[in-house]
Amino acid sequence: MCGIVAYKGDKDASKVIRDGLKTLEYRGYDSWGIATTDDSVIDVIKNIGKVSETYDSNLKISNNGSNKGIGHTRWATHGGVTKENAHPHLSQNGKIAVVHNGIIENFQEQRTFLKKQNFSFLSDTDTETIPNTIEYHMGRGYDFVEAAKRSFEHMDGQYAVVALNHDGKIVAIRREAPLVLGIGLNNEIFIASDVTAFLEHTKNVIFLEENDMVIVDGSFEIFNLYENCVVERPISRIDWDNEAAKKGDFDHFFMKEILEQADVINRIANIEQSIITDTVFDIKAAKGVYIVACGTAAYACMSGLYLFSKLAKMHINFCVASEFEHFKHFLTEDSLIIAISQSGETADTLSAIRAAKSKGSKVISITNMVGSSIMRESDKSILQKAGPEICVLSTKSYTSQLAIIALIVYEMDGHFDEGIASLRELSRYIYYLTSKNSRDFIKSLSEKLKDVEHIYLLGRNLQYPTALEAALKIKEVSYIHAEAYAGGELKHGNIALISEGTPCIIFTSDQTEKAILSNAMEVKARGAFVIGLGPKDNEIFDFFIKVRDAGDLNPIVQIIPMQILAYQLALLRNCDPDKPRNLAKSVTVK
Ligand code: AGP
Ligand code: GLU
Repeated sequence: MCGIVAYKGDKDASKVIRDGLKTLEYRGYDSWGIATTDDSVIDVIKNIGKVSETYDSNLKISNNGSNKGIGHTRWATHGGVTKENAHPHLSQNGKIAVVHNGIIENFQEQRTFLKKQNFSFLSDTDTETIPNTIEYHMGRGYDFVEAAKRSFEHMDGQYAVVALNHDGKIVAIRREAPLVLGIGLNNEIFIASDVTAFLEHTKNVIFLEENDMVIVDGSFEIFNLYENCVVERPISRIDWDNEAAKKGDFDHFFMKEILEQADVINRIANIEQSIITDTVFDIKAAKGVYIVACGTAAYACMSGLYLFSKLAKMHINFCVASEFEHFKHFLTEDSLIIAISQSGETADTLSAIRAAKSKGSKVISITNMVGSSIMRESDKSILQKAGPEICVLSTKSYTSQLAIIALIVYEMDGHFDEGIASLRELSRYIYYLTSKNSRDFIKSLSEKLKDVEHIYLLGRNLQYPTALEAALKIKEVSYIHAEAYAGGELKHGNIALISEGTPCIIFTSDQTEKAILSNAMEVKARGAFVIGLGPKDNEIFDFFIKVRDAGDLNPIVQIIPMQILAYQLALLRNCDPDKPRNLAKSVTVK
């Protein structure tokens, strides 16, 4: 979680870092802070809340104009959301500032040890042990860089850390949490959790490897703590458009990204067939295929199960990534794991990959982030090409994952070209589904639902994972309790929750119409307010959203009105559509 930005160059560091933090706010937004140095004294500013809302441009930074600094936007794990707990944290002597993403697992032992050495602590965070441990080692005669190396050697957990010394030196380490290095003009160096933080300054990046420690002193070098030597890492060029990570004329990234889906699906329709053929070859060669992911990406996997069964006539196993470790006992060297992750950094998905690797199994990932940990730890990767997704809620990344899974299945079934043609056609239809008229129509539904406590969603077949994903969208952004069931499960207990006026959204399709309409009848008989979504209206429905039948690609189109509904509900309930409470875009802790 959290966003880190560090800068050394010829610009005003506090401004470069502030702007970088704003783009990283989707990673954590309970508090923020920036430390700069004039090569002698470190100055820290911090505040509670989002940097975009609480950064006062008149803020007195005594180092104004300093061109070296570090910044952080926090997603608290240890210690409440207070100014004291906000990063950067200073060492006791005020000469070292640290920002940190992740968790130091043995921080309690470290804190106890440091207290015995007369260090005192101002925050409840695990982070504050880091600058103090560095100060402790410097007190034993080591220089800043050597002291930092020694400190990291004794810190367990998953983290990325950047430390700034008062003389302007910076060290950063990547240990199971994302950190990238940006190389700008005139020896400018950027270090950040995500490339979007510095995309407007440079597109030349180095994706750090595990245990790489960057040392910035004049220019930079990378020292690998495992290999115990200086290492060379290749410079990659990011092909994302800088504007793609900006809101432009939109009020929120959420709506911008919903509207981008037509283009994203079209882009996937231009994928090189060989990428898909290659994956299909591996799937066919494997003895046992497992598909793993978290949250929205997991619902994309669930849709995949239905498609693999129907079109590829193949059973694949699905497991949410956080539980996968407990199923690794089945794995062999012939097993194949397909891991799906927009961010490519989700800790649960990464540990599923590592569990698979520990058994010698092969891993293919589908991810949106080039150079991400998941991409690097996989044997092969398919890139989603959805462009930067900044809103915490997954929208375009979900539909792009669905489109890629569909193409894999179509290829297995020998119908790749038809699959491509269907995606192209769907892309045109998505323009219609996201048009102003369609959005206004959904707005009229959101006005009816804005004050309800619960919403239930029912679907069968491919419409079941769609119902699950729609419920997640509504929950995460409007905080209305939404729950999805497979239509047939209703009578096994859940129908007890339906009473007069309870809203129930029923996802229909040509294939499942009869059975799901029976479920609609069952809830209607108990007084439910029934909302139908699908190809045909019916007198049972109190409200109907027409979405034409796209057959096996229904999940891609049926979710779109639901994304719009979630967005409208958030607005009507005064919730932040881009940054829902308690959530972060990239969940890099388990
Ligand atoms: C959904 O809107 C997200 N908030 C969340 O469920 C997300 O899909 C999940 O954390 C997985 O993320 P990933 O795709 O980056 O691995
Ligand atoms: N564990 C640290 C804290 O709670 C860092 C959390 C983060 O990644 O933002 O402050």
